[in-house]
Amino acid sequence: MSARKMITAALPYANGPVHIGHLAGVYIPADVYARFQRRLGNDVAFICGSDEHGIPITIRAKKEGVIPQDIVDKYHGIIKNSFADLGISFDEYSRTTSKKHYEVSQDFFTTLYNKGKFTEEVAEQYFDEQANEFLADRYIVGTCPNCGNDNAYGDQCEKCGATLSPSELINPKSMLSGNIPILKETKNWYLPLNDYENFLNEWIIEGHKEDWKPNVYGQVKSWLNDGLKPRAMTRDLNWGVPVPLPDADGKVLYVWFDAPIGYISFTQEWAEKNGKNWKDYWQSENSDLIHFIGKDNIVFHCIIFPAMMKAHGDYIMPKNVPAFEFLNLENDKISTSRNWAVWAHEYVEEFPGQQDVLRYALLSSAPETKDNNFTWKDFQTKNNSELVGIFGNFINRVAVLIHKYYDGIVPAGDENAVELNEIAKSATEIENFLENFEFRNALSAMMNLARFGNQYLQTEEPWKTIKDNPEKAASSLFVAAQIAVGLAQVCEPFMPFSAEKLQKMFNVDQISWEQLKQEKVLIKTGHQINNAELLFSKIEDETIEFQIQKLENTKASNKKTNPKANPMKAEIQFDDFTKIDLRTATILTAEKVEKADKLLKFSVDTGVDVRTVVSGVAESFTPEECIGKQVMILLNLAPRKIRGIESQGMLLLTTKPDGKLAFVTPDVPVENGVEIG
Ligand code: 2FM
Ligand code: ZN
Repeated sequence: MSARKMITAALPYANGPVHIGHLAGVYIPADVYARFQRRLGNDVAFICGSDEHGIPITIRAKKEGVIPQDIVDKYHGIIKNSFADLGISFDEYSRTTSKKHYEVSQDFFTTLYNKGKFTEEVAEQYFDEQANEFLADRYIVGTCPNCGNDNAYGDQCEKCGATLSPSELINPKSMLSGNIPILKETKNWYLPLNDYENFLNEWIIEGHKEDWKPNVYGQVKSWLNDGLKPRAMTRDLNWGVPVPLPDADGKVLYVWFDAPIGYISFTQEWAEKNGKNWKDYWQSENSDLIHFIGKDNIVFHCIIFPAMMKAHGDYIMPKNVPAFEFLNLENDKISTSRNWAVWAHEYVEEFPGQQDVLRYALLSSAPETKDNNFTWKDFQTKNNSELVGIFGNFINRVAVLIHKYYDGIVPAGDENAVELNEIAKSATEIENFLENFEFRNALSAMMNLARFGNQYLQTEEPWKTIKDNPEKAASSLFVAAQIAVGLAQVCEPFMPFSAEKLQKMFNVDQISWEQLKQEKVLIKTGHQINNAELLFSKIEDETIEFQIQKLENTKASNKKTNPKANPMKAEIQFDDFTKIDLRTATILTAEKVEKADKLLKFSVDTGVDVRTVVSGVAESFTPEECIGKQVMILLNLAPRKIRGIESQGMLLLTTKPDGKLAFVTPDVPVENGVEIG
């Protein structure tokens, strides 16, 4: 009887394209597994989609100066295309801004709420009065109490790696306005994870010691040993799925509440389109739920999401959560913000038709049990020595020789030759490894079959025996043809593009894994094969040098002369720049603004007119110090009211090492109204 496999791959944040770290640590192994399960004849739903809520999205939107919807629209498209281009065979790739997802996640929340599974808690949280927003931990910066780094975030210091809470930061400041945030009370709904400790202990610690990966099991155990606490499932934010309660204005579901529900809502979308019942996959004991994730997602998939599903009551628990470690690039941590990555969409463009080379290289260095490293040199070696030198070479020799000696018709041979057992042996080995989530070993088992084929040809030497023992030559090529077709079959989960080419080349259909293990003869005597096609081609040194140079350029542009300098803002076009009207001007009068310690009100001669400008410089200058100063003004900034005074422009300022402000001025006196640019 075929089994049902509900396979999920972590939803990537739609805040940037996917890179080789994502591919090696989640998506390619998950795809291999899903393809393999289909070959076993199982009923597979392989589901994923973009994670479009949460702080990573709003931060990216702020950085690019656009709204979050623009960001997710842009990256969802790029990510979805990259996956398709690389042969990741999702049955559904959706997004958490879909209407269905809003309905399903709100419904999930309401069920838990009606069952009394949440506690309501009022807690103090940082609030930016100017932006009129509660601040997510990432939106608060301050000095790290651990290492003194002035740019630590409210949840983490990226310099020393310490995990922080906003209240631990020294001199916290809002990233939205730069102001000091105040603490304000807010109500949120919490899931008391502590209530699920017994269940989790019994289910994972007692039940999955043997079959879950040690890294996953160990992390869960340590969380449970430390004791679980209630965790807020709602947040005060304006980007996300609105909390479906009457008294929850301005609150959204916690992104880690809504994202995993995405697996369910996307399955529903898929089921509706394909005449399936989604409950067969999520709410039936006949279904195996498998989550493919990176190690940073373990707690969410092994503790929080299971607690949510347990609280709901209708769902099955994951059978396994194969989590991967991280992949480094050229011995350095992959980083989106430092652009230290090989981007999937760039690879597809720069290496057309070579998707399987990346799939192969990444699988062979998949970070299964520990962090691993990708280097371009290694990539080249894997292609040139293994894919071209072993796999491609064997296939090519078989196809060329059959064409040369037998006009492309498979010759007669011994259907019980002992060498034919190698195919079933390889299929069985691959099966055992894949069922155990050992992708590297499974890949080696596949390559070993190609190695075996090469050695077999080398020993048999049909190009020699064809002269004085043609029957032997025929028999050798009959066996070699079986191995080649065996490879065309077993390589499909790993290298689907090559599998398709190979099946076309040998003029065969794809068969099930069971058939592969049982049928010794995969291609019959008398079968006509097609012309040999090039499967892999040598990657030249220049190609690799180009990629290495690209990374060198990234490194050079990342080198900061001032380590405190903020990263460059998103690029603008020359047209954007020409819209800005910057002029020289002179401050004529200056006075304090009542009840505003930081503000001074100026009248400024801009050459074009005399106008009023309000500026936050009162802690750096007395009014007297300002009068007569020549300054630079942004003239065409739309007027805005500051403390009831209309400010008509902005004076350019910078910060001195002592933290005080300084006007930006021309280094020689010039007339007012002279354009700057
Ligand atoms: O870590 C991440 O990239 C998250 N976007 C993964 C979410 S997985 C799931 F729960 F949706
Ligand atoms: Zn620190």
